[in-house]
Amino acid sequence: MERVRVGVVGLGAMGVGHCRFVAERVPETELAAVCDTDIARATQVGEQFSVPAFTEPEAMFQSGLIDAVIIATPHYAHAPIAVSAFERGLHVFVEKPLCVSVSDGDRMIAAARKAGTKFAIGYQHRLRPEVQAARRLVEQGVLGEVRRTLLITAWYRTQAYYDSGNWRATWAGEGGGVLINQAPHFIDLWLWLGGMPSKVWGHTRAALHDIETEDEAFALIEYPNGAHGYLYATTNEEPGENIIEISGDEGKLRLEGDNLQVWKLHHSIRRFTFEAGGMWDSIPAERIEPPIEMPPEGALTGQPALIQNFARAVLYNEPLIAPGEEGLNTVEIINALILSSQRQKPVSIPVDRAEYDALLAELKAHSKPKQRVREQHITDPNLLR
Ligand SMILES: NC(=O)c1ccc[n+]([C@@H]2O[C@H](COP(=O)([O-])OP(=O)(O)OC[C@H]3O[C@@H](n4cnc5c(N)ncnc54)[C@H](O)[C@@H]3O)[C@@H](O)[C@H]2O)c1
Repeated sequence: MERVRVGVVGLGAMGVGHCRFVAERVPETELAAVCDTDIARATQVGEQFSVPAFTEPEAMFQSGLIDAVIIATPHYAHAPIAVSAFERGLHVFVEKPLCVSVSDGDRMIAAARKAGTKFAIGYQHRLRPEVQAARRLVEQGVLGEVRRTLLITAWYRTQAYYDSGNWRATWAGEGGGVLINQAPHFIDLWLWLGGMPSKVWGHTRAALHDIETEDEAFALIEYPNGAHGYLYATTNEEPGENIIEISGDEGKLRLEGDNLQVWKLHHSIRRFTFEAGGMWDSIPAERIEPPIEMPPEGALTGQPALIQNFARAVLYNEPLIAPGEEGLNTVEIINALILSSQRQKPVSIPVDRAEYDALLAELKAHSKPKQRVREQHITDPNLLR
């Protein structure tokens, strides 16, 4: 195989972007087929890229035309489409979030393991040079044991954005709001750098927009070692910002946008606190400048680079930057936070699968069709730069 033959399922704002990346940007891929349940969109995008168009994912999977699939449908469809692709022996790149519920995530991971094919998720922010540098520091143990973390993931979306599809920000169509749509990228990075919490106390609400699900979420997080963290996610803030802090026993890291700041302590806080004799002694901290490796001139970045990594994993067994299995961690946090808010109690991780499924079924049963939809499928210009 010289190039991976890719089929894209879901030809909306993101899916058409993926068609361009696969057809025009990534040398290791070729666009071999497209699929959308909306026949007009399937036909139009098929003609645009001169490839066969399907209206049923299963028909595309059985066509023999593709080796791999990129799934860019609304989130609820990620799990059933991925499972059926794995059952056909295909490689799968799924857009974020992995899925809506942890039980769906379990099914996807089981199907991927059974198939033994490649499984990647669209967390392109992992590729950012400053994020890679932060991850290396964490892997080297520079920060020591986690003592406190912070995630602020603040975005801005208009009501027109929420009105652009009947599925957006409804329990029946999307299964959440900011938590399931905008926040996953930075929840993923915060978990990648700070580790997996064990308990969540959360609150969610629709504070600004006319939507069924949340445009604001707050949480207090507990880690297995007793450390705590704080999370705030919204689509009500301008300018948007993403801040991650990991404060450890031996160092501290702060990532704000693309600005990474790191401090290394001269002593462990835990030890120094009891060994220091002076009433006002403090621990010297030194700013360190971790090496930030920029991609070579002309190299792909962002989503095209992630798709290239996926294709190289298929072709040459290159390690995946964002393995699909790791997408489950973010879904654990999202489900725990929603469950905690809805049931007004702390929720342990891993989330009780049956309990979350029961809550989601309840929320879906009360979900109301949107009164106002003005369909638009326009790729976020930030993703095409
Ligand atoms: N990685 C990123 O930065 C990023 C950015 C934007 C969107 N996304 C993700 O991409 C996904 C799609 O978002 P969007 O904004 O493109 O939505 P969209 O509404 O613009 O497009 C969704 C498309 O999927 C089609 N579809 C629905 N169900 C289908 C099914 N079962 N089979 C085939 N086609 C189906 C719809 O007809 C529509 O054309 C979401 O999961 C979203 O979270 C990721």
